[in-house]
Amino acid sequence: MSISQTISPQIPPKFLLEDGLSDECKTLLSTLRKQRSWLASHDFYNYQGFWLDPRLLGGVLACQQQFHAQQSDIILVTTPKSGTTWVKSLLFFLMNRKKYPIFEQDHPLLVKNPHDLVPFLELKLYVDGQLPNFSSFTSPRLLATHLSFGSLPKSIHESRTKLVYLCRNPRDTFISMWHFTNNLKLDHTNIKSIEECFDLFCKGVSPYGPFWNHVLDYWKESIEKPNKVLFLMYEEIKAQPKLQLKRLAEFLECQFFLEEEKCGVVDEILRMCSFDNLSNLEVNRNGKLSSGEENKVFFRRGEVGDWKNYFTKEMSEKLDHIIKQKFQGSGLSFLYL
Ligand code: A3P
Repeated sequence: MSISQTISPQIPPKFLLEDGLSDECKTLLSTLRKQRSWLASHDFYNYQGFWLDPRLLGGVLACQQQFHAQQSDIILVTTPKSGTTWVKSLLFFLMNRKKYPIFEQDHPLLVKNPHDLVPFLELKLYVDGQLPNFSSFTSPRLLATHLSFGSLPKSIHESRTKLVYLCRNPRDTFISMWHFTNNLKLDHTNIKSIEECFDLFCKGVSPYGPFWNHVLDYWKESIEKPNKVLFLMYEEIKAQPKLQLKRLAEFLECQFFLEEEKCGVVDEILRMCSFDNLSNLEVNRNGKLSSGEENKVFFRRGEVGDWKNYFTKEMSEKLDHIIKQKFQGSGLSFLYL
């Protein structure tokens, strides 16, 4: 299927609109290095070593300055398009299984998109200069971010807040990001080619990139502080969902009771959060986020290895070479199939 067939005209999400930036952001932007982004409409800016859409800067600054982490907070950190939507739903089911028993018909995840239930700090809670209202959150608060390790609000480092980090192999991440970016465009005639975007990705220029720096910082932290950061991989959850869900539960100190396992709770959570189930819910087929994205753009194929339908031999070799260089000696490797 060609990319133009998958696109429907839509209003751009708020984070892509540059009007309404505060004076603080405009002043800061004028001092930052910039680089053409994947979208023709605006540039990326390099803030604290990572590339951001300009409209995100306000949210990033606000949450860095104002977010006060609680000891019990759980924050999902991801590189964009690594399966955030999936793991948000797993986390929500897991942590709320007392409050919302999973076999009940009125579970919030049946009527709400995971991004509405586990909001992004810099994309949802701190945008538009409004202070987020945390009063509806019960403890532990489930939150998410794409921020790099060094850009996290200070209080997250200083508290006992737990971080769940999710990454995905760079080939599928790139392809997923390319489709997503294309889906956000208004002007279909102005689509950047896969080659152009791949070239930028390889140079480290991608949303919240360089991809490798983002991943490596959290990987190192997960080794140094295994009680603080749990490192998950999309492909490993696909391959051994039960094992990885139990690992997640153990890390968050909410292990499954034997009785729950016997009743099929683990299997049911995995079934409810499966690509087929989530993507076919009415809310995810036809609903929209308050930021403008259609919920369906978060569900495309949900597979490992779709890169094979797009990558040339040269692309695979080039990215392999970069990944080998960047991850050498780290102990981290990726699964592509
Ligand atoms: P593809 O574009 O490869 O299909 P994110 O949630 O971080 O934005 O990532 C989106 C990617 O996760 C998309 O990948 C999407 O299809 C996939 N995804 C969404 N829900 C999923 C699920 N329940 N299981 C597996 N993959 C899922």
